[in-house]
Amino acid sequence: MHWVQLLPLSACSCLYDIASGVSSEELRVASYDACYQLFRFGIPENIGNSPVSVLVLANNNLGGCIPGSIGKMGKTLNKIILMNDNLTGCLPPQIGMLKKVTVFDGSFNHLQGALPSSIGNMKSVEQLDIAHNSFTGVVPASVYQLPTLQNFTYSFNYFTSEAPSCAAIEVVSNGTQNCIPDKMNQRSAKQCSSEVARLVDCSKFKYGGNGREMALH
Ligand SMILES: *[C@@H]1O[C@H](CO)[C@@H](O)[C@H](O)[C@H]1NC(C)=O
Ligand SMILES: *[C@@H]1O[C@H](CO)[C@@H](O)[C@H](O)[C@H]1NC(C)=O
Ligand SMILES: *[C@@H]1O[C@H](CO)[C@@H](O)[C@H](O)[C@H]1NC(C)=O
Repeated sequence: MHWVQLLPLSACSCLYDIASGVSSEELRVASYDACYQLFRFGIPENIGNSPVSVLVLANNNLGGCIPGSIGKMGKTLNKIILMNDNLTGCLPPQIGMLKKVTVFDGSFNHLQGALPSSIGNMKSVEQLDIAHNSFTGVVPASVYQLPTLQNFTYSFNYFTSEAPSCAAIEVVSNGTQNCIPDKMNQRSAKQCSSEVARLVDCSKFKYGGNGREMALH
């Protein structure tokens, strides 16, 4: 199995390949500097060319946005954790191509705009966590139609409405602290009319990475 793990930059370990037989410790030391340089300005442009099945980039101050090229990992990527990385911008529509992803965690960032409706194409997703961002607009019905979804967490955003959740489907969900009328535990009117709550036009958005390319092994 190939995987990338990037721990907080103080203990940066990344791009190690269990199948290669190189001990992770050796590679950890060797790749520390390259890794730091590669990720310090955000996610590399060509992350989508990586053959990893597990991508853990949690708790790094990466900044920047999620490159659309991640869609190219559709055949291999199983789990992607981008929690608390100071990410901005819209979620690229290409996430719909991640048909093998079972866990998608983009929580605790500054992601904004509407959720792309293509999110309904993530046919294997079980755990979907986009809480603590600045998403706006409608929570699309396609989310609740995901066949294997178990837990959908979208609390602490600025969603203004949601498609009626298909009651027949057993999904644990948490949508507290949004701006959805008639739903319990939502944000204040003041927060919901603030600048950050405004709908962003994602069609103008360029889903680039940090402009750097990562070396593949
Ligand atoms: C997050 O990134 C922005 C630049 O996009 C930067 O100005 C800010 O300081 C970062 N936040 C933290 C907590 O470092
Ligand atoms: C659902 O996911 C959230 C966020 O990832 C987690 O905190 C919560 O414990 C999960 N709930 C269940 C029932 O698995
Ligand atoms: C939803 O999340 C909030 C904040 O994390 C928590 O306080 C609340 O108990 C959760 N609600 C449900 C129904 O799980």
